[in-house]
Amino acid sequence: MKHLLSIEELDRAAIERIVSQAERFSEVSDREIKTVPALRNRMVLNLFYEASTRTRGSFELAAKRLSADVVNFTASGSSVEKGESLKDTVLTLSAHKPDAIVLRTPWAGAAALVSQWCAAAIVNAGDGKHEHPTQALLDVYTLRRRLGAIDGASIWIVGDVAHSRVARSDVLAFQKMGARVTLAGPPTLIPREIEALGCEVRYTLDELPSADVVYALRMQNERMEETWVPSVREYAAWYQINAQRLRPEQILMHPGPVNRGVELSGEVADSPQAIITAQVEAGVVVRMAVLYELLAPNRTGLEPGPVPAEGRTPESGTDDLAPAGARGAGVGEGQPA
Ligand code: CP
Repeated sequence: MKHLLSIEELDRAAIERIVSQAERFSEVSDREIKTVPALRNRMVLNLFYEASTRTRGSFELAAKRLSADVVNFTASGSSVEKGESLKDTVLTLSAHKPDAIVLRTPWAGAAALVSQWCAAAIVNAGDGKHEHPTQALLDVYTLRRRLGAIDGASIWIVGDVAHSRVARSDVLAFQKMGARVTLAGPPTLIPREIEALGCEVRYTLDELPSADVVYALRMQNERMEETWVPSVREYAAWYQINAQRLRPEQILMHPGPVNRGVELSGEVADSPQAIITAQVEAGVVVRMAVLYELLAPNRTGLEPGPVPAEGRTPESGTDDLAPAGARGAGVGEGQPA
């Protein structure tokens, strides 16, 4: 895999490979020393044109846990404010030779475009309304840990589907993992062509009790140029997931950030049924697995292995996940990235 641009381009085997790798990284995260040398001498550039708390923070932590060098770039405060284009920004920052660029933009298709402009592996961290593949991978990871298997599960994704890249990536990922997906929300917020993805559509929550998993979406006010619902109050009255609508045995998910009192009541957001914090926690190990898949495809082994013989390259060992610092002093230093 050269880039991660969308869930559309992954098959079930690729999703399972990344999720299984994330599970191995989860074991690493339980160790006292959580940093491993797998991506030593590699550079990850986080290039964010849109606000982010979860994705940016977890990509940074993931890269650092793998011992990569990390450069964080946000459009705000940069020469983008002087009018520098996306292409010139990418070409400029590519002069530092990043091995991977994690890119978030408000433009659908931007990640695919950038992948043609530079040699780095591109990770789509959200491109407009198109896709957010690492969110879907961490959702699969979180749900698989909770349910054991996703095959046959009924997952309802409720809310502002029209403006949601998470919805599109999740529909694809959940279905590839064998789930039945239903999208629900007001007709104005459900794109007409969406059933072509193989999911069902409902405009009321009457059948919500049949769901095993309820996945609430954020109302994306920043992407709405016109009024899509009569009022927030009316939206909440019809579509808010609250204690009256959520059955005790249903699992509640949300990608964050949550608009409390709009798509979720505070009561259910804070309930034990909500696995929103587990989703955030999964973000680090899943993004470690994605960076590892892209930048260290030939590496194997998770157990703390033997200290490598002097002169072995970081690429040649099976001990890339041994705690960082377990290597002999200087081993791997100065090797080509
Ligand atoms: N779920 C998600 O993408 O959150 P952030 O916008 O905070 O990264």
